[in-house]
Amino acid sequence: MTCAPLLPFLSLLLLVEVPAGARASPQRALPEVAAYCKAGTLCPRGPITNWNSPPINISLYYESLCGGCRGFLVRELFPTWLMVMEILNITLVPYGNAKEQNVSGKWEFTCQHGERECLLNKVEACLLDKLEDSKAFVTIVCLEEMDNMEENLKPCLQIYAPEVSSDTIMECAMGDRGTQLMHANAQLTDALQPPHQYVPWVVVNGKPMDEHDELLSLVCKLYQGEKPDVCQIGARSQRKVCFQ
Ligand SMILES: *[C@@H]1O[C@H](CO)[C@@H](O)[C@H](O)[C@H]1NC(C)=O
Ligand SMILES: *[C@@H]1O[C@H](CO)[C@@H](O)[C@H](O)[C@H]1NC(C)=O
Ligand SMILES: *[C@@H]1O[C@H](CO)[C@@H](O)[C@H](O)[C@H]1NC(C)=O
Repeated sequence: MTCAPLLPFLSLLLLVEVPAGARASPQRALPEVAAYCKAGTLCPRGPITNWNSPPINISLYYESLCGGCRGFLVRELFPTWLMVMEILNITLVPYGNAKEQNVSGKWEFTCQHGERECLLNKVEACLLDKLEDSKAFVTIVCLEEMDNMEENLKPCLQIYAPEVSSDTIMECAMGDRGTQLMHANAQLTDALQPPHQYVPWVVVNGKPMDEHDELLSLVCKLYQGEKPDVCQIGARSQRKVCFQ
């Protein structure tokens, strides 16, 4: 019991291993955790039915090879999503500081980190186009945590969306659909008000997120409904440990 604050994290670590389809009901998927949870109030609530306030909109404008973008996505947005996915509406817009040009009727893109980045931006746009939202999100996180994203497309898809082949995604990325999706992302990015000053550019409920804000705290603060339990745990507080 004295270790209660660590329990949610324990169960989240286990959740990562569970296929996306089973996530909606963690207690069913993880009987051993459910047993622990009978004792405390800090455990995941399980079935998501009582989140009746509008979710927090988070849009991430980013490019696939920028280190800061990868850091934000993998180390801040993803863990926040794991903890409070019930109250988030996440939109990823891969494009970032790229530029587009109409070259005799066809859109061509120039990316800050070169051709390879342009292709990977399209790969991610195609994942967002072809996969169900949360599957696309975890597949993109899976790619972005690896240095060799091209080689990892197939294994990442096999884990999170085995029904979609990497060939389908590559065909999309290298074809007209990829160009079309990237043009749409260019328009979304260029329409930002205020315009983005750098990437990752994070917009939370319509407002750019301050560089000094910590995402989970911000989301907890903005959410109007009953707060998820994890919001009670002090952000950036000292790590609690339990000695034997
Ligand atoms: C989630 O975000 C998308 C696009 O940013 C928006 O179209 C949609 O209405 C949002 N959904 C909710 C429930 O706010
Ligand atoms: C792109 O360029 C072609 C010809 O170069 C022109 O016909 C077309 O209207 C342009 N499209 C846009 C959206 O500017
Ligand atoms: C989220 O975005 C949607 C679509 O733009 C909007 O209708 C909704 O009010 C936004 N939610 C919040 C909490 O701002």
